[in-house]
Amino acid sequence: MRYLKADQLDFTIETTPPMPLPRRVLMVTPDHFDVVYVINPHMEGHVGQIDRTLARQQWEALRDTYQKLGFDVHVLEGAPGLPDMVFCANQTLPFLQENGQRGVVLSRMHAPQRRAEVPYLARFFEAQGYTLRSIPEDVPGSFEGMGDALWHPGHALLWGGYGFRTDPAVYEWLAQTLGVRVITLHLTDPDFYHLDTCLSLLDAGTALYVPAAFDDEGRALLHRLIPHLIEVPEREARELLACNAHCPDGRHVLIQRGCTETIARLRAAGFEPIELETSEFLKSGGSVFCMKLMFF
Ligand code: ARG
Repeated sequence: MRYLKADQLDFTIETTPPMPLPRRVLMVTPDHFDVVYVINPHMEGHVGQIDRTLARQQWEALRDTYQKLGFDVHVLEGAPGLPDMVFCANQTLPFLQENGQRGVVLSRMHAPQRRAEVPYLARFFEAQGYTLRSIPEDVPGSFEGMGDALWHPGHALLWGGYGFRTDPAVYEWLAQTLGVRVITLHLTDPDFYHLDTCLSLLDAGTALYVPAAFDDEGRALLHRLIPHLIEVPEREARELLACNAHCPDGRHVLIQRGCTETIARLRAAGFEPIELETSEFLKSGGSVFCMKLMFF
C-alpha cells in the first residue's frame, strides 16, 4: 500500500512489522570521485574543484568511524569515469524479507551519467548471495535507491521521496513487490533533491527534518507518524546538508562538522553526535548518509 496523505493512514509505527537494523556498511572508494557535470544545485561552481587527497582523508575518517562503532565495513573499488559512484546509497535499495530472504532493488538512475554505476553494485550484491530485483520495464520513471527510499528504523516501513530523482510509480511497484507500506513525500525544493538531504530517521520515534523541503501533505504525514521531529535550521540543511546525517544504532549521529544548532538539538534529545568533515563531498551535493549503504 502506498500512502500519499495523512488522512489515508490506517496504521501506527508500533503496529508495522519489525525489521532489524542493518549491521553491515558498504562504502565505495573515492579514487575516481570528482565533480565533472552538474546534476544538482550543490555541484554548481564546483566542477574541477575537488581536492582528491582531502576527499580520501575524509572518506577514510568516515570508514574508521563505522569500524570503531563496531560495524562490519565492506569496501568496493570506485570505477574510472564514474565520479559519483562513491555515493553508494543511490544505486540500490537493500531489503530483508520476513522469511529471511535478503535482496536489493537495482536503481534506475535519473542522470545518464550515473547509469553505469549500478552494475558494479549489482555484482557486489550478487557475490554476497543477494536476490537482485530490477524495476520492470512497464513501470515508468527513475529510482535512486536509498537516496530517496529510507527504511523506518526497526520496522518494515518505507519512506519514499519523489519529484526530482525518483518517480512515484516506482513506489507502487515497490510496495507490492516487497509487501511493505510506503509513505511517499513530495520533494519541492531543488536543494533537497533526495529524501536523504531533508529527512534523517534517527530511531523509531525521532527524526531530523527540514520543513521547507516538503509540501503540506508531506509535513502532515511526518507529523502524524513521527512523535519527535527535530527541525533543522535551513542554513545548516542547505549549506552543510545537516539532514544527510546518519544514526546507525539509535544513539550515535554521524554528521557534517559545524552544524551547531542541529548538534545542540540532537544532544538535547539524548543522541551522541559525531562530527565529521565532508567538505569535498558537499561540493557534489552529498555528505555522510550518501557515502555509505547499510545492508542486512
Ligand atoms: N553528485 C551526486 C548526485 O547528484 C550526489 C549524490 C548524493 N547522494 C545522496 N543520496 N544525496 O547524484
